[in-house]
Amino acid sequence: MSLYELFRSKGPSGFGYGSTAEQVTEGVSLGGKTFLVTGCNSGLGQEVLRVVALRGGRVVGTARTQEKAKAACDGVTGQTVPLACELSDPTSVKACVAEVKRLGLRLDGIICNAGIMGVQTEQCFGYEKQFFTNHIGHFILVTGLLEQLIDTGRVVMLSSDAHTMAPKDGIQFDDLAGTAGQADMSSYGHSKLANLLFARELARRFAGTGKTANAVHPGVIHTNLGRHTNRVFMFFFGLLGPLVLKSVQQGAATAVYVATHPSVATRSGEYFADCNVAKASAIAGDAVMAKRLWDVSEQIVAGLPH
Ligand SMILES: NC(=O)c1ccc[n+]([C@@H]2O[C@H](COP(=O)([O-])OP(=O)(O)OC[C@H]3O[C@@H](n4cnc5c(N)ncnc54)[C@H](OP(=O)(O)O)[C@@H]3O)[C@@H](O)[C@H]2O)c1
Repeated sequence: MSLYELFRSKGPSGFGYGSTAEQVTEGVSLGGKTFLVTGCNSGLGQEVLRVVALRGGRVVGTARTQEKAKAACDGVTGQTVPLACELSDPTSVKACVAEVKRLGLRLDGIICNAGIMGVQTEQCFGYEKQFFTNHIGHFILVTGLLEQLIDTGRVVMLSSDAHTMAPKDGIQFDDLAGTAGQADMSSYGHSKLANLLFARELARRFAGTGKTANAVHPGVIHTNLGRHTNRVFMFFFGLLGPLVLKSVQQGAATAVYVATHPSVATRSGEYFADCNVAKASAIAGDAVMAKRLWDVSEQIVAGLPH
């Protein structure tokens, strides 16, 4: 398939690789609805914030600091609520949860977008930093906000096709500190597998209710995500990106589609890419591993300093 054909291709949803967040929400009114998006100050999260607000939704935009969240929210037209949520700091995440509750915000959707990549030698509270930030931070946030989610609320996890780069046997329950020194991208893939398994297990827990949980691969997009990775690679990535990769507008489309589009209202436990249901790795469908990850995550959170 040529690049031209790829960008024009459409799946059963009527959208595809080249669809933008604005296109997938054309005619969708989000008036009266409230969505929370993490990492609203950069890349895909910033576009999610902009487009959901453009369609009339109120957006609780979170960033590492209140200043960053406010600057991002001030930069868009529409109703926004800026909040600090530093995912590697459980106290900050819990404060964010408490503030959403204090403000009495009922959420139609939670879009777990924030993430880091390429810091595999660092740890938080003794856990590998990407696993802690991308998964545990969002685990605390989402489980803390479940009561705020409306009966038909949707949780969307930004995973990645990089979940296939996780170790072959999946979540490394015996080495969540990452001390075995996984190869480049493997620990990032591990954290993205955790995002996917979390969505699967949450969907299982939501079964029989109107609430849904799904994971998405946004595509490959030149954003700030590569800031901790190889500089030479990122230089060429930056040069070639606009020619061959998705734009940020296209990269935000799948998350916005899954969080807001009426046709996805009852889909749950799925993995989406290019605004259509996609195939994840076999291990990402391992329900036993997903349940174990949930249980272990609860234990991790319970063991953190209060
Ligand atoms: N870009 C891609 O090709 C691609 C592909 C597959 C999946 N994804 C996923 O898409 C999501 C968005 O990535 P992006 O490409 O938009 O990257 P980005 O431009 O780097 O944005 C990431 C966002 O996450 C925030 N963040 C990072 N660490 C955080 C922490 N400890 N606490 C709170 N927020 C934190 C960043 O805040 P600061 O700016 O303050 O650091 C930023 O707002 C990520 O989950 C990523 O894994 C991206």
